[in-house]
Amino acid sequence: MALAQSAMGCGLSRAEQQGSKTDWPCSGRMFVTYPQTKTYFPHFDLHPGSEQVRSHGKKVAAALGNAVKSLDNISQALSELSNLHAYNLRVDPANFKLLSQCFQVVLAVHLGKDYTPEMHAAFDKFLSAVAAVLAEKYR
Ligand code: HEM
Repeated sequence: MALAQSAMGCGLSRAEQQGSKTDWPCSGRMFVTYPQTKTYFPHFDLHPGSEQVRSHGKKVAAALGNAVKSLDNISQALSELSNLHAYNLRVDPANFKLLSQCFQVVLAVHLGKDYTPEMHAAFDKFLSAVAAVLAEKYR
């Protein structure tokens, strides 16, 4: 999941290394593109390169890695996280789709032509499944 970790914002992105504005890590892109998502992180330093955002990105990437290993039962693998987001953090489920979309854009930027339509379709299916599980407890 090294690519996922870099994409989620826990490694130094090329944007930070080169001063480019085009290659944001995933969470940084989400905070800029959908500023309403920042309201869940009032206690975080959200500046580009923030240690808190990088460390949080590592946790999210690890959770996604865990889900990849449990494709047959993502619901069980992410059950605690689902509880956390629904009951404690009260994240509006619409935000899971926003993060998924940012994740895909970052993958496309990183991989270029290697991010084939087939990979796009597979990631979309996987991230949709993760988003559905994280939204399960709201019903
Ligand atoms: C915390 C995963 C989407 C808001 C976490 C943690 C993980 C995680 C692993 C850390 C839990 C812990 O420390 O025990 C995910 C995954 C997501 C997702 C896999 C979707 C693919 C979102 C979205 C938002 C959000 C879209 C809001 C826009 C938060 C907040 C925390 C958190 C506020 C607590 C941060 C802190 O205080 O340390 N998430 N998350 N998450 N997540 Fe998510």
